Amino acid sequence: MGLLLIIIFIFFTIFISPTKPENLKLFREYIGAEFTNVKFTDVPINPNLQFDFILSFAIDYTTSTSSPTPTNGKFNIFWDTKNLPPAQVSYIKKKHPNVRVGLSIGGDSIFNNLAYFQPKSIHSWVSNAVSSLTHIIKQFALDGIDIDYEHFKGDPDTFAECIGRLISILKRKGVVKFASIAPFDDPDVQNHYISLWKKYGHVIDYVNYQFYAYDNSTTIPEFIGYFEKQRKNYKGGKILTSFISDGSKGLAPTKGFFSACEILKKRKQLFGIFVWCADESKSSGFRYEKQGQTLLTTL
Ligand SMILES: *[C@@H]1O[C@H](CO)[C@@H](O)[C@H](O)[C@H]1NC(C)=O
Repeated sequence: MGLLLIIIFIFFTIFISPTKPENLKLFREYIGAEFTNVKFTDVPINPNLQFDFILSFAIDYTTSTSSPTPTNGKFNIFWDTKNLPPAQVSYIKKKHPNVRVGLSIGGDSIFNNLAYFQPKSIHSWVSNAVSSLTHIIKQFALDGIDIDYEHFKGDPDTFAECIGRLISILKRKGVVKFASIAPFDDPDVQNHYISLWKKYGHVIDYVNYQFYAYDNSTTIPEFIGYFEKQRKNYKGGKILTSFISDGSKGLAPTKGFFSACEILKKRKQLFGIFVWCADESKSSGFRYEKQGQTLLTTL
């Protein structure tokens, strides 16, 4: 009898409880690209949501500061490992059970040069990427991967195959538990990511759509329109809204970003919010991170 009650209790906690992880809203924060000495522990973390840090970036380039060159899928670490080492990853995850930590690959630039997606062949790139990223992910005990290539020397089909196979293999091997993509409003970028989505959308958990890539004259209705458009481009995807810390681009927190989020929340379309980036938010005390997390955790 006692055992039965325990089993029923466990069943309720796991399957029925309203706080089961799948029901939690998601808040994500890129961190580490700008070397402002930001640490995980600086960032406010609301316990009532799923919180992801995304280490930025791992790039398949050599680490030469004067002339970084492409390495065909052999990834190196370019985030601030002094302030964000493996020990800090395990510390923040232990301190906050609702925290996951992932890494992002690609990014806009590397030591003031554009960072290109530049594979020699699908097979060789995937093989190199799987082994180099597995090594980094295990070294840091990371949970997931984000795809943020923004410049391409490779057609959309090749991009779709390389990234789609990479994510599929990492998931199948249990190296990562989640994957996201970070496209934005640019024809070439969208061609590559939509092609990836069409073929491999089933292995991609979240779309970190860079809403801050739009003009800073963006109004609330325009923002909602952009969101609707991406719901069509990434059909069935969990699309997150986003802002940039200094409010210089897109719909800024001071100009209605949170009102737009409230509208989407009422429509039950707001799955989560992400921020670029902790490095820049640090100087203003993470004010909008707090506001965003409060919005996601209140009815
Ligand atoms: C809006 O964007 C323009 C350039 O696109 C920039 O010059 C201006 O400073 C931005 N405004 C704000 C408030 O950041």
